[in-house]
Amino acid sequence: MMLPKKTRPLLFLFSQMAIFALFLHLISHNFNSLSAKEEPKPMHVLVLSSWRSGSSFVGQLFGQHPDVFYLMEPAWHVWMTFTRSTPWRLHMAVRDLIRAVFLCDMSVFDAYMNPGPRRQSSLFQWDGSRALCSPPACNMFPRDKIIPQAHCKILCSQQPFEVIEKACRSYSHVVLKEVRFFNLQVLYPLLRDPSLNLHIIHLVRDPRAVLRSRERTTGELMIDSRIVMGQRWQKLKEEDQPYYVMQVICQSQLEIYKAVKSLPKALKQRYLLMRYEDLVRDPLAQTAQMYEYTGLKFLPQLQAWVLNITQGQGMGQHAFHTNARNALNVSQAWRWSLPYEKVSRLQKVCRDTMTLLGYHLVRSEQEQRNLSLDLLSTWTPSTQIES
Ligand SMILES: *[C@@H]1O[C@H](CO)[C@@H](O)[C@H](O)[C@H]1NC(C)=O
Ligand SMILES: *[C@@H]1O[C@H](CO)[C@@H](O)[C@H](O)[C@H]1NC(C)=O
Ligand SMILES: *[C@@H]1O[C@H](CO)[C@@H](O)[C@H](O)[C@H]1NC(C)=O
Repeated sequence: MMLPKKTRPLLFLFSQMAIFALFLHLISHNFNSLSAKEEPKPMHVLVLSSWRSGSSFVGQLFGQHPDVFYLMEPAWHVWMTFTRSTPWRLHMAVRDLIRAVFLCDMSVFDAYMNPGPRRQSSLFQWDGSRALCSPPACNMFPRDKIIPQAHCKILCSQQPFEVIEKACRSYSHVVLKEVRFFNLQVLYPLLRDPSLNLHIIHLVRDPRAVLRSRERTTGELMIDSRIVMGQRWQKLKEEDQPYYVMQVICQSQLEIYKAVKSLPKALKQRYLLMRYEDLVRDPLAQTAQMYEYTGLKFLPQLQAWVLNITQGQGMGQHAFHTNARNALNVSQAWRWSLPYEKVSRLQKVCRDTMTLLGYHLVRSEQEQRNLSLDLLSTWTPSTQIES
């Protein structure tokens, strides 16, 4: 079709403008994806748990990943500076500390460590972080290998404190494990903080198994337990203390879980509930879920390693170490080693939490000892949160 002669130049102009606009669009698009590639926002993961709940194990699952800078319990330094305080009084200091650490600002530790030159070994459980055992923190091990804690402790302890910050900045993921949060409210500002990309993994465990494990590590947990008990500590009889501590812990687990239900939908997606028992029953599948949730690849060498550490022999003695062990057996050990009286007493103080998280109560010693009775409900807690 022929157009009237007068409109031809106009049409030509329009088509030139359209090409130019397309050109601009492509350029700006390229620039955007270019800058997105150069400056990807790090992923910040908080493994929120309690003592003796398998959080060292979950921490190691993240810590050994070559894309992860991991620290366990950085807020230990806060608590050990204020041993006569309570978890709630220390909440804000703990929160501000983990925010700084997520952003790789390690000057925050100045408030809790002696002045003067420090080594990376000043940091609590530093050798549990593979990132602090490999470049740029320490050149003794390659970055993509499973590094045994004991070897790292010997070979990398002399590195200056400054390498921690340098190492942190070289990773796409910062993962912190903390047992020192007793509600979710204190974390709301971090969930909404535009400089963070915070995802929470809430790791829970059957309180009966926790009690048994705590009994075997009472000495190591003494200072922490005293802080948890707060002012009640001196008024409680020694034999009542473990149950009071468990009551506080169960209550806080319950509150955290309930608080998630009232979060806006966008923030709900920043929360994943993980039961330790589900993890030990199917370590590969549950680890895959946690990795997917946090945007990590489940590399073949990590899959082999996970199978190895969950199917190894032995029960694991030390409070803070994750050695090869039969994790499934450990998770059931309370059923033959705790007297029914203790189980019954604990169930009274943790009943609501256990019911909500899907841990069936036992009503007799016979039920407790009968291992063909499965005490774990089969629903998956994370899908319940969605509804
Ligand atoms: C499995 O664990 C054993 C004992 O800790 C170790 O000697 C072996 O190298 C491990 N294998 C893998 C694939 O990690
Ligand atoms: C679990 O541990 C107990 C106590 O150490 C032991 O008697 C039992 O044989 C173990 N079971 C398995 C399947 O390893
Ligand atoms: C153990 O539990 C199973 C499954 O509920 C039941 O069939 C069995 O009778 C119980 N055994 C004893 C000795 O109570």
